[in-house]
Amino acid sequence: MCGIIGCCSNHNVLHNTINGLKKLEYRGYDSCGITFLLNKEFHTFKSIKRIEDLSKNINIDGGLAIAHTRWATHGKVSLDNAHPIYSSDKKYIIVHNGIIENYLKIKDTYLKEYIFYTETDTEVIINLIDYLNKKCTMLESIKRLYEILEGTYACLIIDKNEDKIYFIKNKSPLILGFSNELIITSDILALPKNTKKYYRLKDGDYGYITKDTYSLFNINDQNHFLFLDYYPLNYDISLKGFKHYMEKEIYEIPDLLHNYINKKYENRIINTLKNSNKIYLVASGTSFNAASLGALFFSQISKKESYAFISSEFQIDNTYDDKAIFVVISQSGETADLIKAISKIKKKNYEVIAICNVENSTIKEMSDYFININAGVEIAVASTKSYTLSSLVMYQLANIIVDNDYKEKLTDIVDNISSIFDVKDKIKKIASYISNKEHLYYLGKGIDYLLCNEASLKLKEISYIHSESFPSGELKHGSIALISSSSIVIGIITDPSNANLIRNSLEEVKSRGAKTYVISLESLSLDSDSIIIKDFDKYLSFIPISIIIQLLAYFTALNLGNDIDKPRNLAKSVTVE
Ligand code: F6R
Repeated sequence: MCGIIGCCSNHNVLHNTINGLKKLEYRGYDSCGITFLLNKEFHTFKSIKRIEDLSKNINIDGGLAIAHTRWATHGKVSLDNAHPIYSSDKKYIIVHNGIIENYLKIKDTYLKEYIFYTETDTEVIINLIDYLNKKCTMLESIKRLYEILEGTYACLIIDKNEDKIYFIKNKSPLILGFSNELIITSDILALPKNTKKYYRLKDGDYGYITKDTYSLFNINDQNHFLFLDYYPLNYDISLKGFKHYMEKEIYEIPDLLHNYINKKYENRIINTLKNSNKIYLVASGTSFNAASLGALFFSQISKKESYAFISSEFQIDNTYDDKAIFVVISQSGETADLIKAISKIKKKNYEVIAICNVENSTIKEMSDYFININAGVEIAVASTKSYTLSSLVMYQLANIIVDNDYKEKLTDIVDNISSIFDVKDKIKKIASYISNKEHLYYLGKGIDYLLCNEASLKLKEISYIHSESFPSGELKHGSIALISSSSIVIGIITDPSNANLIRNSLEEVKSRGAKTYVISLESLSLDSDSIIIKDFDKYLSFIPISIIIQLLAYFTALNLGNDIDKPRNLAKSVTVE
């Protein structure tokens, strides 16, 4: 979703600002823009194409700039609606991430005299700054925004008479980085390589940066200047010879699994799970598909009552047990729907365990316990290694809390998993067949149905082929009406107790003309199956299967020439509801 970056320096900042903006591309965007402040004049450039297009038109450079990638929420994709956005008298300018819920009320209450030139909620903030600044200082005006704005916002604001970038943060991420210059951005990845340390702003923080220094306050700290807890910056985002981040990230899974053989979990997390009688898992998208696997592990392996909920549908009522524990899963740690669900859970005083790939994220801050899946940065919008590893964390926890020894089974996977890439050509063959089709169905039962859900999501998000997954038993209750001689159905078979039933359903669709492919474990396979993999423990087969379904989606999208790492309309970090 939207990304923001602002740089202040004694040197020109075009290079670092545009590079930062490019690193925000993976979050998803439909327009972009940049403003320089030079000798008390704003110079703004915008594009409704890619950042490449924006850079081509920039004909100046300077020591102070703010820039933005926009993912349209309020108002269509247009140059007017692209950020940065001016106040009506062009004295102030803003970039904003988030959504202002009460923008119409603010317009009515404070801004009746103002002319608006865009359809955005953001324009209300910058005109409000103009309105407030007539009666107080800029810093006081920024602080007053906390009293008036409702919603989520991370903003960078410039007054054309000051060489400063003001900032404010509420529920949208904002990070202050220290390299040769001061940089403030919504995403740690946008910081330049030579950044030594960074500070993740907290809700209620506000202040400004100049070319040499920063000033930071928090509304709850009565205007005392805040000193920062820095974190060292350490990440590698090179493609390492791969064509796309998605491919690279799938190929990282075998190595990452090694770290899990002896992974230790905090005793207090283990005890909390042991003492709970119900486990509720909440997440969105791919993380929800991992949560569904988690619910199956906790109920079947640990024999605890467990359910998975989609964050945006989550409603807490009074029926949850006192001894219930909530487990939330998020790759980014910033998903707005999940943040809202956690607020509801915390209001009812339940404890939350977060399983996440980002240290210092909002979701970590909101939770009582935190498990870092340590997958390393995931750049491709389509989540791959994070799905596999967060599922693995839940598999381990489900075993640990009932004192099961799973190490041998996991070691077997770790020792053999690299061979999964040997079936690459078979996956490519299926990919080339399905690439020009419009619809595809996945079929499974039990754990295999849960894997089909993820297979289907992965395929549709990067190939744009319409894909659905069905529990095999449910097919005959309606969806089989869709099957015709042009249908493609892929079955996943890893669970001996369900294998025959899935085979029966595959026969049913075949006899109605569908072309079928089967991905199966050796002991459950038929010679005619398309991809047969070595037998692994029933609950761990999700590891090789996840790699296969991720690669199938990848090769299909590759055949179609799609923008694999940045699929249309999608964002890596979904920071609006
Ligand atoms: C799909 C994908 C999304 C995310 C979802 C939740 O590949 O990545 O479905 O899983 O937006 O995001 P996180 O895990 O960051 O909470």
